[in-house]
Amino acid sequence: MTLTITTPRITLRVATLDDIDAIQAAKEAMWPILQKWMAWSSNDQASRDATQAYVLSAIDKAKNNDFYLHGFCKDTGKFIMATGINATDEGPSIFTTGYWVAKGFQGQGYATEGTLACIYCTFSLFKAKKMTINYYADNMASKRVIEKLGFTYLRTNKGAHTSFLDGTIMDVHQYEMTDPSVLPPLDVTWQYTPDETAHAP
Ligand SMILES: CC(C)(COP(=O)(O)OP(=O)(O)OC[C@H]1O[C@@H](n2cnc3c(N)ncnc32)[C@H](O)[C@@H]1OP(=O)(O)O)[C@@H](O)C(=O)NCCC(=O)NCCS
Repeated sequence: MTLTITTPRITLRVATLDDIDAIQAAKEAMWPILQKWMAWSSNDQASRDATQAYVLSAIDKAKNNDFYLHGFCKDTGKFIMATGINATDEGPSIFTTGYWVAKGFQGQGYATEGTLACIYCTFSLFKAKKMTINYYADNMASKRVIEKLGFTYLRTNKGAHTSFLDGTIMDVHQYEMTDPSVLPPLDVTWQYTPDETAHAP
């Protein structure tokens, strides 16, 4: 099962063992920020071993159309961002996404471009009925990305997340998209090779 998504600046794909050092370096460069805002960023996720386990798990999950994707610069191959087209327990045609962008690449539209590409792919290739996303507390950059992508605000769950950085109790703001016609335009293509032994999305 392989999926490669291409945008004007980014190649998005499942990471390999060769990518671990680049992902780990980017993680370490912004670890406190990731611990503040990311759902997966518990202390035991900081190490290189944890990154390796994550990459191995992502390779495995891709076999069932649960794609943890990493974005690399088309020109230089440098690691730019993590995003995804991720399965949910809400049903086979409902996916979720999220993102983080490496330090030197922020503020240049990469989160929007990479995640937009994933959403196009989710609705067109995987025939999704819905995609969801959320952000915590006052993460205004993330809120802005979600709004630029065209998600619809659903609800706020008061105090539903505890920050791994300092234990702050945070509100979780939930959004969804059911109609991809709201998406801003993007030049995006994908190559997908299904695994006949896996479950259909
Ligand atoms: C959130 C994050 C992914 C954004 O990545 P990015 O590549 O810089 O995002 P983009 O450049 O596509 O868009 C960012 C938008 O937020 C805006 N923005 C940035 N900081 C902001 C702030 N403090 N308040 C309001 N808007 C802000 C930018 O101006 C831009 O909007 P614009 O295009 O209208 O000017 C990045 O900051 C990050 O990795 N943060 C840490 C991890 C994280 O918070 N992930 C999200 C978890 S829900």
